[in-house]
Amino acid sequence: MKVAVLISGRGSNLEALMNDQNGYQITHVVTNNLEANGLNIARKKGIKNTYINWVNRNKAEEMLIDLLEEIKVDLVILAGFMRILSTKTVNAIPPTINIHPSLLPKYPGLNTHQKVIDNADINHGATVHVVNNKLDGGLILGQISFRVNKLLTAEQLADELISKEHKLLITVVGLIAKKKLSWKDNMLLSSDEIPALPIQINDL
Ligand code: GRF
Repeated sequence: MKVAVLISGRGSNLEALMNDQNGYQITHVVTNNLEANGLNIARKKGIKNTYINWVNRNKAEEMLIDLLEEIKVDLVILAGFMRILSTKTVNAIPPTINIHPSLLPKYPGLNTHQKVIDNADINHGATVHVVNNKLDGGLILGQISFRVNKLLTAEQLADELISKEHKLLITVVGLIAKKKLSWKDNMLLSSDEIPALPIQINDL
């Protein structure tokens, strides 16, 4: 399975995917940010990469559609990609998934860790979902959760979560690559090998 990863920043999820590539290959990295550290990670590993200037959103999305058509990937992964794709674009590109740092449907959007603290949540976690026309609102493929240590700051909570995000993302992408996890029309397709869907990882 050929995969393109879209990033805007640090690129730690990209790096986890690159180190895994179990049944899938990352063939291209796309960014809207020339300063993204993830771009250096891709370059060091010799993975093809493309910068798209996102100042004009329509033009940028047209370029993205053209690029993805040309490179023919099976799956697109948004891994810290800080731009919202229009519905038209989502419909025009290969199946696209996103990693989000909360237990959706709780806390779509930004500042998820602070919201967990403000609401004194017992659990926190991350979600991998299909990208659709609602912000962080598509079909949930998998989640990882852990118990919140009440003494942590938002930044410390984010640090604790990030390695768990990596674990979740490579698990979900690996299962998609092996065709053990699939979906159609906003529904997960049942699988003999995975009795409970979406994937739930408890990382207490
Ligand atoms: C992650 O927390 C991811 O869930 C969110 O943005 C962050 C990206 O981190 N969408 P990195 O660039 O993968 O290190």
